[in-house]
Amino acid sequence: MRGVEPLWHNAPVPAFGGVDARLLVVGLAPGLNGASRTGRPFTGDYAGDLLYATLQRFGFAEGDYGKSPDDGLRLVDCRITNAVRCVPPENKPTTAEIAACRPFLEAEIAALPTLRAILALGLIAHNAVLTAFGERRSRWPFAHGARHPLPNGLLLADSYHCSRYNTNTGRLTEAMFQEVFQGLRRYLDEAD
Ligand code: URA
Repeated sequence: MRGVEPLWHNAPVPAFGGVDARLLVVGLAPGLNGASRTGRPFTGDYAGDLLYATLQRFGFAEGDYGKSPDDGLRLVDCRITNAVRCVPPENKPTTAEIAACRPFLEAEIAALPTLRAILALGLIAHNAVLTAFGERRSRWPFAHGARHPLPNGLLLADSYHCSRYNTNTGRLTEAMFQEVFQGLRRYLDEAD
């Protein structure tokens, strides 16, 4: 099968970052040639280039992003996971996959005692987080740049996904993405 090489990770991709993080970034699913190959979320594909550069810019990552899990990059007060843990067929997660992975997302969130904010990258991540909390989607509609102060005390922030498709089509610009992180930086700096 294309891309499934024996030396690749080819398995559920664990979250990256410390469990003492106040910010959890929730992506969609491992990329075939990215996280599913390297075993670290967003590592080795285009979406990671933009995500990690932006995290570094706003102090959520330190070191060099070398597109490999052994690059020494460290997340600071931030953890990254995905709504879906394995690479989906055609890169489009099915409803069944999203539902099957939800318990892992719930466990991931429950394991972060100092969590303050969740950034959902795209509608699927946004909906997965809302469902994990038992919140109605109609009450908290997804919109790029939206912030939802959830009843459980966590802030859910939304961004368009930092995929190559979204940046190539101009749906998401670097400036738009940076604005989201700037807002989160400010929110967390003022939180304590
Ligand atoms: N890589 C990930 O780990 N998640 C995404 O959503 C995209 C690329």
